[in-house]
Amino acid sequence: MAKEKLTGVKGMNDLLPDQSGLWEWAESSVAEVFRQYGYRAIRTPILEPTALFVRGIGEVTDIVEKEMYTFTDALNGEQLTLRPENTAAVVRSVIEHNLLYDGPKRLWYVGPMFRHERPQRGRYRQFHQFGIEALGMPGPDIDAEQLIMIHRLWQSLGLDGDRAPRLELNSLGTLAERQAHRKALIEHFQTHASILDADAQRRLLTNPLRILDSKNPAMQPVIQSAPLLTDFLGDASRTHLAAVIKILEQHGVGYTVNSRLVRGLDYYNLTVFEWITDRLGAQGTVCGGGRYDSLIEQMGGASAPACGFAIGVERLIALLQEVAAPELPSVLDVYVVHWGEASVGAAMQLAEQCRGQGLRVQMHCGEASLKSQMKKADQSGAECAVLMGEDERAQGVVTVKPLRAEGGMVQQDRVPIGDAAAVISGLLKCKIKKGS
Ligand code: HAM
Repeated sequence: MAKEKLTGVKGMNDLLPDQSGLWEWAESSVAEVFRQYGYRAIRTPILEPTALFVRGIGEVTDIVEKEMYTFTDALNGEQLTLRPENTAAVVRSVIEHNLLYDGPKRLWYVGPMFRHERPQRGRYRQFHQFGIEALGMPGPDIDAEQLIMIHRLWQSLGLDGDRAPRLELNSLGTLAERQAHRKALIEHFQTHASILDADAQRRLLTNPLRILDSKNPAMQPVIQSAPLLTDFLGDASRTHLAAVIKILEQHGVGYTVNSRLVRGLDYYNLTVFEWITDRLGAQGTVCGGGRYDSLIEQMGGASAPACGFAIGVERLIALLQEVAAPELPSVLDVYVVHWGEASVGAAMQLAEQCRGQGLRVQMHCGEASLKSQMKKADQSGAECAVLMGEDERAQGVVTVKPLRAEGGMVQQDRVPIGDAAAVISGLLKCKIKKGS
């Protein structure tokens, strides 16, 4: 009987070697920019107690209501959830380890998140985020600095000019201001109750803000005429937003204020933002974040302001592939080709010597003709092949054969075995210099 074919979980992707170079490049570029602004890495577990996300993200959000991978640990009955985002978990960790005892902290992370959404291009059930959390800083300067950092990040990835996502900004004010707006929203929607669909009816008393996100065409007029939070903002909230904007303008970071921008997580106040591209279809939000000044206290810590954001890695990679995929350096410098049983040991030794020079070396393993080994060397992407056969060994030399047309290595050469590693390394370094 044929065995049933096993496949991965729907909406969860394998990252294959053809793609992993670009991911690694993006990861190291992003990490470098984060470090330039003084952020240090934090790694928290992928699993957390369910209550953390329910309390942190908010009970009546889409994520908590219908997107969490939640299960009971059969071994001890604990209620666990695969993290749908990482802000709540970082806050948990910061409180648990009392990280703010000696002042503010700037933290970054990268890793997988899990949301049981309907998969489509740019929306997956396991996806990855680069994230930043700055904890303990109340002023608009840190909000603005994060936006400037993201702007720099796009540039460092080659996403400049009209390739860069655009910034949309809003203020969600204070809790009291949001409550006053919420009351007005409920009154507005109640006076138009007959137009609301079932989903909106349900949300009216739990989370009326989410009604504003509805795509139902019949409800658009009543959504368009709904009161705006902007009209409920007090002086302090307006001043905070104005201060962020002033710094952005001083730094030439473009933005639009979108007074309808609300975020899908409940913890935000004051500044919220999204970076959006039109080049990826419906899932064009590459980055989202904002201030969450009450979350730390709400989760049981001493009151401390905070702000942060997360970038969707899959969406960033898709954008890079669409407009600015960089030319990545070759993954391999040397492919060692050998024949004759007695050559294996010497070839392996040479490969180790080359690695000792910092080169990336793949030695052919297993029986194969010279022709087929050369074909593999060519396909490997290596800059050169090093050939070692009985003849070469007898004469104490190896043949170095360039595999790429461009660059500093021009012709096949015989080199004494003892010098080979240093010679190849010298030739390749010279090539890298020329190319850079
Ligand atoms: P978020 O807006 O839920 O915010 O997610 C941030 C980014 O993750 C999105 O803009 C998007 O690029 C990506 N993303 C979200 N869901 C998916 C998905 N299903 N498939 C692919 N990509 C996705 C947060 O998660 C907050 N924790 C950000 C934050 C940090 N706020 C303050 N600090």
